[in-house]
Formats: sequence, structure tokens, C-alpha cells
Amino acid sequence: MKNTSVTFKEAKAKGEKLTMLTAYDYSTAKLIDESGVNSILVGDSLGMVMLGYEDTLSVTMEDMIHHSAAVARGAKNALIITDMPFMSYQTSVYDAVVNAGRLVKEGRAQAVKLEGGLEVCEHIKAIVKASIPVCAHIGLTPQSINAFGGFKVQGKGEQAAQKLLDEARAVEEAGAFAVVLECVPASLAKKISDSISIPTIGIGAGNGCDGQVLVYQDMLSMFSDFKPKFVKQYAQIGDMMKNAFRAYIDEVKSGAFPSEEHTFKIDEEIIKKLY
Ligand code: KIV
Repeated sequence: MKNTSVTFKEAKAKGEKLTMLTAYDYSTAKLIDESGVNSILVGDSLGMVMLGYEDTLSVTMEDMIHHSAAVARGAKNALIITDMPFMSYQTSVYDAVVNAGRLVKEGRAQAVKLEGGLEVCEHIKAIVKASIPVCAHIGLTPQSINAFGGFKVQGKGEQAAQKLLDEARAVEEAGAFAVVLECVPASLAKKISDSISIPTIGIGAGNGCDGQVLVYQDMLSMFSDFKPKFVKQYAQIGDMMKNAFRAYIDEVKSGAFPSEEHTFKIDEEIIKKLY
């Protein structure tokens, strides 16, 4: 069944947990979609896990459109949510609507995600008014890494916890259909989830959220630059890939590959006639 922003809200009302994974290309999106996930996030994390930047700040609209369109070609049933990259919406409400529109028209996104609380509510309202569903993202918002001074758990003190709860209510009021909570203490994430009617999607926010999201390279152990505490590794695909690459190198060097079964044939009489 096709997942939409509407089915997301219905899932929360029914108490059904939502699943989301990132993807950035056609073949991975197809595999993830076929596994039955509710949503694929074309995250700006692609700057780190696909392009090798040290943070998400250098990711451009062109990067997001290029990868989003590839994912859209591979996914049939998952709701495709594409991240608005740094400085594609912070500059003005007008820019936010224009760039959200580009992600839908050119990147074939079915919803967009942007980071921030009260300061982006006007942007959310305007994008939703243009009939584009918006997923909000509060807590640790990686595009604000320089303002935060590093990747840190958010909402720990009383004031900070109240601010996060207020922000969740504000983005709901602005029209967001879901909100990602990143690196938030579990009981605060549960309190937020119980206080709003739109689904919360947690990453490093405990199991009291209405759904979960992980970066697929993290959960498959394909990204070894660092491993956040909240990541569970479901398979050691990075090691499997390296072993396969090494086996290929060994077989090419020894002449074992390609063997008969991977080789095309021609009538040897033809070869004999060649001069
Ligand atoms: O860019 C991304 O992958 C994200 C998730 C970590 C929520 O925003």
C-alpha cells in the first residue's frame, strides 16, 4: 500500500509504529522499498555518507534533486521525504517555497523535511499552503552544528526540555505532518510524542516515539568514520563488501576469474581464419 503524509497521521491515531530509512540512489531505494518500510528519507546526511563531507552544510539543492529523483525511480510504496539543504529555506519564506517546489517537481519528493522550531514555522505554513507536506526536525539539527558547538544530546535541562516541547507543538500548529526528534532524552521524546497529534520519528530519542529512522549505512555497518551511540548495526555489510572486493582482486590476479561460465563463445574456425 502506498504510504502518504495522510497515512502517517492515521498510523499514529491507530498506535502503529512507523519505519523510515534513508536512501540516496535507485538500487538501494528499491531494496528498502521492497522490504516494506513506510518512508524513505533522502537525507542531507548524503553529504557525509555518500559525498564524504565532514558535515551536511555543503550539500546543495542540485545534490538533493539528483539523489531524490534516483530514489523516486526506485521506490513504489514508501513515502519519499527529501531534506531541504542548508540555506535553501533559512534565507526567506519565499526561498523555502521555491526550493520545496523544486524538490517536488525535479526531485519527485512527496514531502520535504526542514530543520528548526519556532524560527521556521512561517516557512512550514507557506510550504504547506503550496500543498507540499512538511516533516519538521527538532532536537539535534545538524545544519546548526556550528551554533550547537558539536553533535550533542539536546533538551537535557528544564528550560531546554520545555523549549523542545514548545517547538514540537509549534511545528504541529504550523501544519507539519510529522516531526523528527534527533538526540533527545527518551522520556522527553515520550512526553513530546504524547503531547502532539502528529507522529514523532525518533533517531537517538528512545522507543517512546511513534516511529524510528536510521541512516542505512549506519545500520548496515557500511560507514566507519564514526558510530553514534543510538545506532544498532543489523548486519556487517561493510565487512562483507570488503571481503567480496578482496576475493575479486585475488581471482583476477590468479586468473580464476572470469571462468568458462562467465565467458562468451565463438566458433574456433572463425578465429583460425583471422590474419
Ligand atoms: O539527513 C538525515 O539523514 C537526517 C536523519 C538523520 C534524520 O536528517
